[in-house]
Amino acid sequence: MSPATERRELLKAVYDEAKECTRCPLHQTRTTVVFGAGSADAGLMFIGEAPGANEDRMGLPFVGQAGKLLDKLLGEIGLERGDVFIANVLKCRPPGNRDPQPREIESCQDYLRRQVQLIEPTVICTLGNFSTKLLRGDPTGISRLHGQDEARVIGARAVRLFPLYHPAAALYTPSMLETLRADFQRLPALLELGPPEQPPAPEQSPAPEAPLAEEPEPEQPPAPEAPLAEEAEPEQPEQPPVSVPERPAAQLGLF
Ligand code: URA
Repeated sequence: MSPATERRELLKAVYDEAKECTRCPLHQTRTTVVFGAGSADAGLMFIGEAPGANEDRMGLPFVGQAGKLLDKLLGEIGLERGDVFIANVLKCRPPGNRDPQPREIESCQDYLRRQVQLIEPTVICTLGNFSTKLLRGDPTGISRLHGQDEARVIGARAVRLFPLYHPAAALYTPSMLETLRADFQRLPALLELGPPEQPPAPEQSPAPEAPLAEEPEPEQPPAPEAPLAEEAEPEQPEQPPVSVPERPAAQLGLF
């Protein structure tokens, strides 16, 4: 099996598990589990908040107005959905599109962590406050962080984290849309940089899985299942560039 096929199969196994999920009460009100969609080999990953009514009905992320804007912004930098992977903090719709609750985020974060670990993106764009706070393990809001990339260790790997305004917020605020567009324009150069310097490989057997945003156990770092919130080593500019494949080898969201 090629590495791309294997990655896709492993991701599909996580999806098979998620679609039966009853870890939080949202399973009682959802229509479908919105696992995420795109290329399992994507160099660029977007993480939104939670499915809305359209997503819940269709089983795919960002299929409403915010999704159309996301498609447009991707198009402006020469990308399409199949080139990236799009997921959410929550895989199930909160009733009435209310904010995700801490218990729901806690229950769901293991799926997101496994998605990030399998896809191994170079750049992760968090869209809005919920995903930004979760992946950074810090309450700083999106208006202070948008458009500033930073190397972060997510699980066992360092990625370039690039917080962006949520497209749904930008839909109704022209100035925010222009900021989001300007931030988007920086993505090709960020992808060209390739991954940041990686943390040293762990010497011992894998540690128990940690939640995304908790402090690492002091005796275990760096572990393969380390949390999202760890600081990465300073960037190494001489990294080989990683380009986004023109045609993705593997597509998800088409199950
Ligand atoms: N907003 C999100 O955060 N995610 C979706 O999938 C759709 C709208």
